[in-house]
Amino acid sequence: MKFHVMTLFPEMIEQGLHTSILGRALDAGIISLNTVNIRDYSEDKHRHVDDYPYGGGAGMVMAAEPIAKCYEDICGEGPKKRLVYLTPWGRVFNQDMAKELAREDELVFLCGHYEGVDERVLSRYVTDPVSIGDYVLSGGELPAMVMIDAIARMVPGVLTNEESGETESFENSLLEYPQYTRPEVWRDEAVPEVLLSGHHAKVAEWRMQRSIDRTIQYRPELMEGAVLDKKSAKYYRERLAEKNKAEEECKCEK
Ligand code: 6GU
Repeated sequence: MKFHVMTLFPEMIEQGLHTSILGRALDAGIISLNTVNIRDYSEDKHRHVDDYPYGGGAGMVMAAEPIAKCYEDICGEGPKKRLVYLTPWGRVFNQDMAKELAREDELVFLCGHYEGVDERVLSRYVTDPVSIGDYVLSGGELPAMVMIDAIARMVPGVLTNEESGETESFENSLLEYPQYTRPEVWRDEAVPEVLLSGHHAKVAEWRMQRSIDRTIQYRPELMEGAVLDKKSAKYYRERLAEKNKAEEECKCEK
């Protein structure tokens, strides 16, 4: 899979993605990265890519033409490629979107800066406006890196069998269970007994229950999408009943 990134800071994208699992996948040629500096498509001798907003107001707006030229260059004579625009007003990114985008052969990312981008180039070319959450960042580079990491992990061959995403957070909509490594006792705190037992079914049951506990505590809304076997569903109902009872008691005290 090929990722194209249109940005004013190509070195930021290159540095960020050439490490760890993605670095390995890039070296192996399973994924590739083409960062393009929008400034190379500037129309003036000072290499400006932004201008004052019509209607007034603070900040600068990225002009349409350098971005259009840049994107047209990336697409060449071929069909238009899917174009992701990183913006706080986009659809909020999640694991399902990462999986869906990972099915494409190529993706183009547009990283905005300043106060925004001329709407005319957005409406002409952007297929997917995406946000990575409800907070404001200075530019689209970090969000593009976040998305590329999440998408690349879903491309076959990027993760080894060991790293495979099957049991990670958001698979089956549950959060990950707690992990432990040596030493068996750390500062008087022991590893849960069951994990040392070698009893695979008991370990699996313990992990499922801890995943459910954690999801109830931190992201209860995710439980709606969880698919639970009979035993896990019973465990969930019991924890939920406990939680509701505790909340009822709190109300009485007020
Ligand atoms: Cl995609 N861009 C910017 N600038 N800020 C954001 C964002 C994107 N997602 C959340 N905040």
